[in-house]
Amino acid sequence: MELWIFAMLCFSSATVSVQQSIVSQLQYSSGDTFNVTCDASKFIGLKTANYFVSMSMWRQVSSQAAFINMASYEPLAQSNTTNNIPLQWQINFSGGEGFSNRNTMKIVVTVVNYQCTDAGLYKCQAVLPSPVTTYETTPVNLTAKVGITQNNISMAPHNQADGTDENSSVNSVGEEISMTCTFTGPANLQAVWKRNDEDYPYPNDITNSNPSSSVVSGCNIYTYSSELKFTLEESDSGNTYICVVTEGNNERSRKMFTIDVLSTDTSTKISQDTDTTIDGLSFGAGVGAMAVVSLIIIGVLVYCWKFRTTKPNQHVYQTPYLSTDYLNSYELVKGPEGMKQKHLSGPSTLQLSSTKTNENASVYDTIAHV
Ligand SMILES: *[C@@H]1O[C@H](CO)[C@@H](O)[C@H](O)[C@H]1NC(C)=O
Ligand SMILES: *[C@@H]1O[C@H](CO)[C@@H](O)[C@H](O)[C@H]1NC(C)=O
Ligand SMILES: *[C@@H]1O[C@H](CO)[C@@H](O)[C@H](O)[C@H]1NC(C)=O
Ligand SMILES: *[C@@H]1O[C@H](CO)[C@@H](O)[C@H](O)[C@H]1NC(C)=O
Ligand SMILES: *[C@@H]1O[C@H](CO)[C@@H](O)[C@H](O)[C@H]1NC(C)=O
Ligand SMILES: *[C@@H]1O[C@H](CO)[C@@H](O)[C@H](O)[C@H]1NC(C)=O
Repeated sequence: MELWIFAMLCFSSATVSVQQSIVSQLQYSSGDTFNVTCDASKFIGLKTANYFVSMSMWRQVSSQAAFINMASYEPLAQSNTTNNIPLQWQINFSGGEGFSNRNTMKIVVTVVNYQCTDAGLYKCQAVLPSPVTTYETTPVNLTAKVGITQNNISMAPHNQADGTDENSSVNSVGEEISMTCTFTGPANLQAVWKRNDEDYPYPNDITNSNPSSSVVSGCNIYTYSSELKFTLEESDSGNTYICVVTEGNNERSRKMFTIDVLSTDTSTKISQDTDTTIDGLSFGAGVGAMAVVSLIIIGVLVYCWKFRTTKPNQHVYQTPYLSTDYLNSYELVKGPEGMKQKHLSGPSTLQLSSTKTNENASVYDTIAHV
């Protein structure tokens, strides 16, 4: 009889060590949300009994000397308790009612915003009745993968222009530029420098320092630094420098920095020339406009002059009452003073010239002598 019990105990402890996991993976990233689930399927070698007296979830993180009972459910006693549970975590006690709760009873602990400080051993415990027997799952050792924190690129000498963000600068040709990219995260990260989204062409300008490692409550955190140094050239103006953090060949994070090159004397002159050109154009346009106006005025004056000098003085009269081919003489019968008379080449035409303007020709009459 004692031997049989001994054999059963050996069998139990042997089978307990191969039960299923209470989590779906053994490593999560900081910030992750996942479930730790306790139910009958997580235990192996449970003795035959229809119901659980209680079920609980335990953990031991690096800061703790022993396992702590975080969530405990005793449905027949209508009791559930939590202990040392981070505020944002959620606990769902479900099933468990009645004396056949074995397949319904469940504790789901939803870990929210997993942190390095949550890394450690997690396990479930179940108590079965008659006689009261305690079973445990083999603890899972949860590790935390730290997230990547990339700082803004720091740049020297940094001359932030008014109205621009802090990751841009205006510098002069010839200045020694230093850009530093720093970030923290898991092992095996790399900094890759790009210029306007193409790989930075001069690898010798880049210095990567060896990452330093520190353990923060269960997490290994590596600190990285990469420096890009070059002498600023005119052609660098407007270039955006990008520090890409990669893990394997995958981009995980990036920061950018844009440099504008301060106008040199040449470019100032060019811009002044441009201004002058613009002034010249305005001046030219002004002159053009004035010329047009002048031309109009001159045209009007010329027209007026012409009107004044030609129209009133060039009255050409037909002598319709003559049928002869030529005139021997002619006589102005009625007319103002200063009227001049001229014999034209045409035989039946005479022209009267007057110093008065706008004479009405019809007031004159002529007598022709044939
Ligand atoms: C955790 O379990 C609950 C059920 O209790 C489920 O609704 C939820 O989707 C699960 N969350 C994750 C991250 O698996
Ligand atoms: C708790 O878990 C039960 C069973 O999985 C589910 O029906 C219920 O919706 C869950 N409650 C909450 C608040 O997630
Ligand atoms: C857990 O206990 C609270 C009281 O502390 C009770 O309101 C709640 O119904 C209990 N949940 C379950 C699933 O028994
Ligand atoms: C759990 O994993 C961490 C990180 O790999 C390790 O340092 C620690 O010794 C492990 N703990 C146990 C009990 O195996
Ligand atoms: C990084 O730069 C951005 C944009 O200029 C700014 O909004 C943010 O506050 C900076 N972050 C830090 C940590 O300086
Ligand atoms: C400045 O930094 C912010 C945040 O990283 C980014 O969105 C923005 O594009 C950057 N500006 C330039 C000019 O690189």
